[in-house]
Amino acid sequence: MPWTKKTAAATCAAVTLADAALGSGMCSTPTAASCCTALVSSLGGSQIFYPNSTSYTTHMSTYWSVSAALDPWCIALPFTSSDVSAIVSTLAANNCPFGVRGGGHGSFDGSNSVADGVTVDFSSMNSTTYSEDDGLVGIGPGAHWQSVYDTLAPRGVVVTGGRAGTVGVGGFVAGGGNSFHSASHGMACDQVRNFEVVLADGSVVDANADENPDLWAAMKGGSANFGLITRFDMNAISFLDPSSPDIWGGNYLYNLSAGDAVIDALVDFTDGVQDDLNSSAIVYWAYLPALGGMILNAAVENTLGAVSPPAFDGFKNISGLTTDTTTVAPMSNVTLELGSGQPSGFRNVWLTSSFENNAEIMRYAVEQYYTLAETLEGVLSDESEFNLLCMFQPITKSIADRGVEMGGNVMGLDYYTQDSNGIMFLLTLALNGEDQEDLARPYLSAYLDDLDAKAQEMGVGWDWKYLNYADRTQDPLATYGEDAIAKMRAASEQYDPDGVFQTLRSTGFKIPQ
Ligand SMILES: Cc1cc2nc3c(=O)[nH]c(=O)nc-3n(C[C@H](O)[C@H](O)[C@H](O)COP(=O)(O)OP(=O)(O)OC[C@H]3O[C@@H](n4cnc5c(N)ncnc54)[C@H](O)[C@@H]3O)c2cc1C
Ligand SMILES: *[C@@H]1O[C@H](CO)[C@@H](O)[C@H](O)[C@H]1NC(C)=O
Ligand SMILES: *[C@@H]1O[C@H](CO)[C@@H](O)[C@H](O)[C@H]1NC(C)=O
Ligand SMILES: *[C@@H]1O[C@H](CO)[C@@H](O)[C@H](O)[C@H]1NC(C)=O
Ligand SMILES: *[C@@H]1O[C@H](CO)[C@@H](O)[C@H](O)[C@H]1NC(C)=O
Ligand SMILES: *[C@@H]1O[C@H](CO)[C@@H](O)[C@H](O)[C@H]1NC(C)=O
Ligand SMILES: *[C@@H]1O[C@H](CO)[C@@H](O)[C@H](O)[C@H]1NC(C)=O
Repeated sequence: MPWTKKTAAATCAAVTLADAALGSGMCSTPTAASCCTALVSSLGGSQIFYPNSTSYTTHMSTYWSVSAALDPWCIALPFTSSDVSAIVSTLAANNCPFGVRGGGHGSFDGSNSVADGVTVDFSSMNSTTYSEDDGLVGIGPGAHWQSVYDTLAPRGVVVTGGRAGTVGVGGFVAGGGNSFHSASHGMACDQVRNFEVVLADGSVVDANADENPDLWAAMKGGSANFGLITRFDMNAISFLDPSSPDIWGGNYLYNLSAGDAVIDALVDFTDGVQDDLNSSAIVYWAYLPALGGMILNAAVENTLGAVSPPAFDGFKNISGLTTDTTTVAPMSNVTLELGSGQPSGFRNVWLTSSFENNAEIMRYAVEQYYTLAETLEGVLSDESEFNLLCMFQPITKSIADRGVEMGGNVMGLDYYTQDSNGIMFLLTLALNGEDQEDLARPYLSAYLDDLDAKAQEMGVGWDWKYLNYADRTQDPLATYGEDAIAKMRAASEQYDPDGVFQTLRSTGFKIPQ
């Protein structure tokens, strides 16, 4: 049977006037008053914040991207899965549009909060617990990775989480999660042994290899399309020496004239990943006018703490290497420092693409990126304080293979990496001023469209767009391939038959039509 868009909730909205006339409470027009009052009744007033409260203001100030911090009718703050159950039941029964906020690091308006509706804010569900007996780490979706790593380091273990400690857990894992451990362990979602999740009918269920296995698979990369996640149970990974939770890593900074050589080194590194699954690299150009202009950096890490392993010889041999900050340090020190690189308080636009592991398309992306930076310099005001990054990360067959071994996900990587390793591309703009963001957006979109067209023309383009890096103008789940889409549709039919998470949920990305 063909999958059709869920319309139950929308239909309810459409008949609201008639219902109101009939005095039926079933399908009344959702308003700030009706939705927030209903939540106060079901949850208690102390966990519902109205715009006139200081708690509301405090919570709204903790969004990473100013673009995303839309002011909702009210904020619902759960502490437990039964709170979440009460919230979901109330929102569904009253036909209330809602947003979902995990750690609050989504970039765009519509990532994680909603202007016309209720924002479910997970920030108080942020605990980390470790059970040595079953090797499982239970993490609340509102946690930030720094607190996870700080809690786990003394126990000699870690999980596949964010590389910047500031990033939130909920969106990161639900949407995939590229980590220092991806080559050896797959995406972060592949290491989730169990999701505790609240379904549309308010039931709290576990999804794992034995219970609701089809839901488990669909939730690995399928984001918020099936329910509200209340706990991730992730596999603990031991450090080589549990008494010193160290990794090796840091930055290789290059003279800009070394750009071509750095791209060649990244191509070789990516194709060599299968020989050293513990090493990872990210190459980026960053235009930071306030800090004096353009920089070129390769961020490198080895999760075993191996100093300068051979995988990085290609990067080290480049004569334009000007600064080398690599060192052995506790992983939680590294993630703390990486968190300071992309501070909160700016508006942000992120756009993503991907292609085969090919030097020519990367050179083209960089060349056009220089032009884009120059263009924005002319278009944007000095007060915008903009910075512009273009970033390349290996997406290798090893990542996809681990995903399959761990029970399968819905990210589609096994399809894309069949013939070659790939590169995930990310363009980011951080700046001040809504008008400045509006001015810049068409240039960024045009850049991306041109890059995608060039990659197709060269025969190296991948349609794949990574959900956690995608802009609201992109449709990442539609690029994950027919198999993945079919799995998501089937799980949605089964676990959310009325389509609550396709219609009432206003944030994040939906299952494509
Ligand atoms: C500084 C920085 C560094 C980053 N580094 C990396 C990196 O190394 N690797 C990488 O892969 N990505 C990285 N990202 C991207 C990151 O994965 C996404 O921004 C992700 O959405 C962050 O998760 P969050 O919980 O903070 O997001 P939020 O904005 O809170 O949530 C985003 C979406 O996630 C879903 N979600 C959140 N909580 C729940 C829940 N409880 N139940 C169901 N769905 C939920 C919802 O759809 C929500 O709309 C980085 C982002 C930033 C800003
Ligand atoms: C805040 O707003 C809510 C909803 O409009 C209202 O019920 C409440 O009385 C207000 N509180 C204060 C202190 O003004
Ligand atoms: C969890 O969140 C609370 C409230 O926001 C905060 O006070 C606390 O420090 C956080 N705990 C951790 C482990 O991050
Ligand atoms: C960078 O490279 C250029 C061209 O090779 C050279 O002229 C310049 O001196 C180098 N700059 C630094 C800081 O090494
Ligand atoms: C290193 O990689 C191997 C696979 O080659 C994997 O088994 C091991 O768990 C990894 N170690 C760490 C600490 O990531
Ligand atoms: C890097 O240089 C070393 C020493 O000169 C050499 O042995 C090695 O083959 C080079 N590696 C690469 C990848 O170029
Ligand atoms: C790691 O951080 C701790 C706490 O800030 C500090 O004492 C220690 O020196 C750091 N270690 C390294 C190797 O940087």
